[in-house]
Amino acid sequence: MANQRQNAAATERDRARNRRGGRGLLLAVAAAAFVFLGVVAVALTNAFVNYTSTDSFCGTTCHSMTWAAKTYRRSPHFDNRVGVRATCGDCHIPYDANHPTPMHYISLLLFKADRGAKDVWGELTKRIRTEEEWEKRRPQLAATVETFLKTHDSITCRGCHTLEAFAGPRNAMRQLVHRDVIQADTVDCLRCHAGVGHVDDGADQARGGWYTLRQAANGALAYARTCSMCHGAELHGAGAPALVGQPFWQAYGGQRVSTLWSAVHTQMPMTAPGSVSVRDSIDIMAFLLQQNGVAAGETPLDDSVDLTKVRPPH
Ligand code: HEC
Ligand code: HEC
Ligand code: HEC
Ligand code: HEC
Repeated sequence: MANQRQNAAATERDRARNRRGGRGLLLAVAAAAFVFLGVVAVALTNAFVNYTSTDSFCGTTCHSMTWAAKTYRRSPHFDNRVGVRATCGDCHIPYDANHPTPMHYISLLLFKADRGAKDVWGELTKRIRTEEEWEKRRPQLAATVETFLKTHDSITCRGCHTLEAFAGPRNAMRQLVHRDVIQADTVDCLRCHAGVGHVDDGADQARGGWYTLRQAANGALAYARTCSMCHGAELHGAGAPALVGQPFWQAYGGQRVSTLWSAVHTQMPMTAPGSVSVRDSIDIMAFLLQQNGVAAGETPLDDSVDLTKVRPPH
């Protein structure tokens, strides 16, 4: 009798343990399912976030964006020599181009929802239907993007470009022009690199207006003083190469103005490289441009912004 009672009690304990075990198993399964769903949700959100940043989504889904895609395809971020392509999202959505922290990720989602809603709304209400309407709205849209980048320290650009990484003698010029950029409180890449994401037909083909007559006149004096003894009073060369005509254009046509400046400011004069002041070297460049048929204009040539300009091939 006592044995039976003991057995019954033992069975009851076993059952209780089993029940508890069952509940534990259920909990474990639920937790696993939860984690799995969580992973799926994150993956899907991420896939959606990524998909809505791809060029095909941004550039074709919304009618109005096809025009933006056209100017983008002419830019160095679409075709370039290193084979790395920046997508719409890389430049327009923070943290698309680099890895966010969890907090960043949340703010990205919020940012995206906001931006996406506005874009979709614009498309739904068909505020931009024709190319003319697009051209009319474009300055305003561009200003919105520029303001965003300016107030966020060009965050998307810096997702890929680390200016501190310009190092070594090959990049001496780039280090020089970016020195103050890195140290400034606010980083505004577009100040000097406007139109880096979208290039208009015929942009940068301007054949003049890069320097003033006054600069060229100063340049002529500085040239006579420091360069003419080797390159000739008429720039036709003597012991040193000619700085006018075909050979000169062959060397510098299609190049950035900075390439020429690099020669004038850091390599010349042959016997005392780097001894010409910034101002004189800029003025000498103005003189060289003038002697090579590039017309003068109203705005002076300047040692940062204008150096990114590409000289048209002759
Ligand atoms: C290399 C970075 C970069 C990439 C890639 C890029 N953009 Fe832009 N985008 C900019 C910048 C910078 C501006 C501000 C105006 C300017 O400087 O051209 C801009 C402006 C715009 C504007 C405002 C109108 C205009 O033309 O200025 C729209 C719309 C736009 N981008 C959409 C897109 C779409 C769609 C894509 C992909 C097909 C794309 N962008 C790819 C950097 C980029
Ligand atoms: C996805 C990464 C990525 C992002 C984001 C990006 N870039 Fe670039 N950028 C590149 C690559 C790759 C090149 C091509 C480099 C080459 O050809 O040597 C390039 C080229 C450039 C050049 C040289 C252009 C030329 O004419 O050759 C400039 C200037 C530049 N980027 C500035 C910017 C600015 C400003 C932004 C932000 C609006 C930006 N980039 C955003 C990757 C990026
Ligand atoms: C004060 C003007 C100025 C500012 C601001 C500036 N840059 Fe530049 N940048 C230049 C000049 C000038 C060059 C030289 C062009 C060349 O290499 O021939 C240059 C060159 C570059 C190049 C190399 C271009 C090439 O030919 O491959 C990249 C990339 C670049 N800048 C990125 C940036 C980014 C990103 C920012 C913002 C974080 C920025 N720059 C801000 C003036 C500026
Ligand atoms: C002591 C003589 C001498 C003086 C002074 C001199 N140069 Fe030169 N320069 C040369 C020589 C030699 C070369 C060719 C170097 C080479 O090919 O590596 C050259 C090359 C150049 C080039 C490259 C031309 C090309 O076709 O590749 C430029 C640009 C230039 N000089 C500009 C100047 C300017 C501007 C000054 C005045 C600030 C100046 N030079 C002063 C001797 C001189």
